[in-house]
Amino acid sequence: MAARSWLFILCFAVAAAGILQIRAQPDLKGFISIDCGLEGKTGYLDDKTNLSYVPDDGFTDAGTNHNISVEYMTPLISKRNYNLRSFPDGERNCYTIRSLVPGLKYLIRGTFMYGNYDGLNRLPVFDLYIGDNFITVVNITRPDGAALEETIVVVPDDFVQVCLVNTGGGTPFISGLDLRPLKNTLYPQVTETQGLSLFGRRNFGPTSNTEIIRYPDDPHDRVWIPWINPIDWAVVSTTMTVQNLENDIFEAPSPVMRTAITPRNASGNIEFAWEAYAQPKDPVPGYVANLHFTEVQLLPSNTVREFYINLNGKLLYNESYRPAYLYADAIYNSKPFLRYPLYNMSINATSNSTLPPIINTIEVFSIMPTANVGTNSLDASAMMAIEAKYHVKKNWMGDPCVPKTLAWDSLTCSYATSGRPRITSLNLTSSGLRGDISSSFASLTAVQSLNLSNNNLTGSIPDALAQLPLLTVLDLTGNQLSGSIPSGLLKRIQDGSLDLSSSLQLENRRFTYRELEMMTDNFQRELGRGGFGCVYDGFLEDHTRVAVKLMFKNSKQGEKEFLAEAQILIRIHHKNLVSMIGYIKDGDNMALVYEYMSEGTLQEHIAGLEYLHKGCNPPLVHRDVKATNILLNAMLEAKIADFGLSKAFNRNNDTHVSTNTLAGTLGYVDPEFVIPSTLFNLVFQISLILVTGKPALLRDLDNTSIIQWVQQHLARGNIEDVVDARMHGDHDINSVWKVVDIALKCTMQESIQRPTITDVVTMLQECIELENRHQKEYTANSENHNSSYNAYGVDQSTNVIQSNDAFEVGHNIARVPAMTTGPVAR
Ligand SMILES: *[C@@H]1O[C@H](CO)[C@@H](O)[C@H](O)[C@H]1NC(C)=O
Ligand SMILES: *[C@@H]1O[C@H](CO)[C@@H](O)[C@H](O)[C@H]1NC(C)=O
Ligand SMILES: *[C@@H]1O[C@H](CO)[C@@H](O)[C@H](O)[C@H]1NC(C)=O
Ligand SMILES: *[C@@H]1O[C@H](CO)[C@@H](O)[C@H](O)[C@H]1NC(C)=O
Ligand SMILES: *[C@@H]1O[C@H](CO)[C@@H](O)[C@H](O)[C@H]1NC(C)=O
Ligand SMILES: *[C@@H]1O[C@H](CO)[C@@H](O)[C@H](O)[C@H]1NC(C)=O
Ligand SMILES: *[C@@H]1O[C@H](CO)[C@@H](O)[C@H](O)[C@H]1NC(C)=O
Ligand SMILES: *[C@@H]1O[C@H](CO)[C@@H](O)[C@H](O)[C@H]1NC(C)=O
Ligand SMILES: *[C@@H]1O[C@H](CO)[C@@H](O)[C@H](O)[C@H]1NC(C)=O
Ligand SMILES: *[C@@H]1O[C@H](CO)[C@@H](O)[C@H](O)[C@H]1NC(C)=O
Ligand SMILES: *[C@@H]1O[C@H](CO)[C@@H](O)[C@H](O)[C@H]1NC(C)=O
Ligand SMILES: *[C@@H]1O[C@H](CO)[C@@H](O)[C@H](O)[C@H]1NC(C)=O
Repeated sequence: MAARSWLFILCFAVAAAGILQIRAQPDLKGFISIDCGLEGKTGYLDDKTNLSYVPDDGFTDAGTNHNISVEYMTPLISKRNYNLRSFPDGERNCYTIRSLVPGLKYLIRGTFMYGNYDGLNRLPVFDLYIGDNFITVVNITRPDGAALEETIVVVPDDFVQVCLVNTGGGTPFISGLDLRPLKNTLYPQVTETQGLSLFGRRNFGPTSNTEIIRYPDDPHDRVWIPWINPIDWAVVSTTMTVQNLENDIFEAPSPVMRTAITPRNASGNIEFAWEAYAQPKDPVPGYVANLHFTEVQLLPSNTVREFYINLNGKLLYNESYRPAYLYADAIYNSKPFLRYPLYNMSINATSNSTLPPIINTIEVFSIMPTANVGTNSLDASAMMAIEAKYHVKKNWMGDPCVPKTLAWDSLTCSYATSGRPRITSLNLTSSGLRGDISSSFASLTAVQSLNLSNNNLTGSIPDALAQLPLLTVLDLTGNQLSGSIPSGLLKRIQDGSLDLSSSLQLENRRFTYRELEMMTDNFQRELGRGGFGCVYDGFLEDHTRVAVKLMFKNSKQGEKEFLAEAQILIRIHHKNLVSMIGYIKDGDNMALVYEYMSEGTLQEHIAGLEYLHKGCNPPLVHRDVKATNILLNAMLEAKIADFGLSKAFNRNNDTHVSTNTLAGTLGYVDPEFVIPSTLFNLVFQISLILVTGKPALLRDLDNTSIIQWVQQHLARGNIEDVVDARMHGDHDINSVWKVVDIALKCTMQESIQRPTITDVVTMLQECIELENRHQKEYTANSENHNSSYNAYGVDQSTNVIQSNDAFEVGHNIARVPAMTTGPVAR
């Protein structure tokens, strides 16, 4: 065969734009079609496709709308390219498209028509991302055409974000955004970790450049652009329908498949080529190609059309190939070609063939890793709902946690080596939040700390927040919330798993005497008895167990004082203070209802517990801190009890207690009668009791105080002597030294010599760390933290042509059946 080369370089970068001519059908396919920068709230029906286009108002809240310059508003340009949205502010700006099917494949297409909208005549270059995965550089090379960037990806969530990232090459903008769901059987090269970025989709055979095929001719609304070369290629076509078999994995539409080309020189080859399009992080991307074939001529029995498909001089498909009559088939590779800067495709007839080769259409894609997954889907959805509700104007765009450099302000994310990032804390203090507390906060199931203080939040506190398993800090102060603390949250506060910052101006729970009787089952079980009254066991209607302290009728406390104190105490919720749930003031019956502490007093459990180490607000003077007033709950967490004897301080008045009544038990009262900031230092005497296992006053040693006893022993330099033998030496000696040292400092006569509560907390933290180190065994974490970004390293030896074994080439479908006519069962 005489040789003549038909070699064409495809120019795919910018598609001939705005000249789409399409026949129309109604949109019933779950398509989402967005006209970016369209003013107002109402969309329109596109007269060519009959697809419904909507403004981008609900999809992004950043950027500004513009019209292109009038000189570019030609009738050839489709209406939706007349306007665009540009993003002068922020590094990353995103569209969030919701209500998708997680795990489904979607074709996502952005359209970019510059049209000198800003009057600067400067063509911008920026990056396009889907979720957290880089797709391509959008390089606008002409003002009068629309660049199409199409991607096929598996969308992992029920939403997807399409983001434009400013890389310093001018202001990013977008004219249109389309989403088309695809069956998962289509495009097998697309997986959860690999997407396809369209390089070119060219239809052979049309005679006019305007014969672009789109929806409804292609039910998937792919855009098939004509590729015309009348000098080298002759057109062959049919008016019959080209069928797709049921298991067709590309579903090339009949209007595209009806036309094909053959070499005009009947003894020549079909030849074309494409150049690799360098991406910044991938100078020679990997490509896959889908070559679609069908026989469009009913061949006489003595004729054969059979050919080879060659890429860069090597067989692409290892056998000769005969297209089937009126059935769409495709030759495609599932693994990318070896990486070359230039791909020469040549289709040549076999020696047996009586007819020249044929091709109907081709799609070329570069592959791109989509392994970068964003924030946990539920967390991300919740954050987007929160953003949508409160319109928090921060950098709240795109994925909340990924990439780290663009993570949302006010969030803390955890980036575990496996699994998707989670949101662990949210600090929205003074963020201008208005309205009620969004239920979406309760969907952030990994959140540990939620600070919503100093906003204008109204309504009640959602009890659903109690379902957040890891939430330990909740700050709702400085809002206008109403109602009481819901029971679920109250339980969490009471069991010590949650710190709710106090001073919420909430309603008190006031019970009647009748309720009190029911609660305590007519005062059946007495738990204890003190100077002010008796404590009874009881249950609330929701089965929360409570302790009810009924004041003796002859108690000196006046009614007014009692009510005032109850009002203050009800607001105090701290994990180391026994919570007051409510009170009773019914006639001359006065009682306080407390959370129930199941494990009794510290005195009864003198060893091995965690310990309170935080102050409280407003500060309190207890005046009777002792081991019998420290109660333990089921988790052996200690809480100070007996608030009947305490006084709440005015927060701004940190001076001495204005009481001259000394109440308390000998041996436990601060020698100076405490100032508030050192109030809790008293408690640290108890650390001596914990370490030694001995009571505050050693009766067997002439009522020597424990302080003196410890001091005497330490003077002899032997810490081991004072440590409780029941600890069996299972402690870090340094931490014990430190605890004893802190305790002794706390018991100094002069308050000025005593450490502040903050110092104490710091020192105790150090003790805990020492103890943890002592207790813990470290297991080395040998996990490899490989970045998953560029899963497809560039093969630097791409100029060396290697064995074509590396191409894994397959057919569209099981070979087309031998029959040449007739329908196929669907
Ligand atoms: C047609 O192609 C054959 C084989 O490539 C070549 O030998 C011949 O010269 C070509 N004819 C023309 C007219 O180009
Ligand atoms: C568009 O759809 C409507 C019905 O939704 C139909 O009446 C109209 O004929 C369609 N237009 C075209 C051009 O197909
Ligand atoms: C763009 O043009 C339309 C139609 O003339 C007009 O309604 C709209 O306000 C313009 N938008 C901008 C941002 O100038
Ligand atoms: C954009 O395209 C122009 C013209 O093809 C080229 O010179 C430039 O390097 C490209 N820029 C980027 C960032 O790819
Ligand atoms: C592709 O074809 C061109 C023109 O025939 C040739 O110069 C080039 O070396 C070929 N490249 C490869 C990788 O085969
Ligand atoms: C082509 O490859 C397939 C699968 O690798 C193999 O089964 C078949 O025998 C090969 N055909 C030829 C002609 O080598
Ligand atoms: C067609 O391609 C095959 C495989 O590369 C090759 O062996 C054969 O020589 C080619 N035939 C012609 C006529 O170019
Ligand atoms: C040509 O046809 C013969 C007979 O049908 C067959 O044996 C041979 O494999 C064919 N050659 C090619 C290259 O298809
Ligand atoms: C919480 O946010 C406020 C205001 O942005 C800031 O001042 C404060 O330092 C933040 N707190 C923490 C713990 O990050
Ligand atoms: C919440 O944030 C405010 C302002 O930064 C801070 O003062 C307050 O301590 C925070 N609350 C908690 C519980 O950390
Ligand atoms: C709450 O809203 C009022 C009035 O709109 C405003 O004066 C006040 O500063 C807001 N408070 C906070 C904490 O934002
Ligand atoms: C602080 O307490 C003193 C003594 O009881 C009192 O005279 C003063 O008014 C209080 N100050 C404030 C701001 O409440």
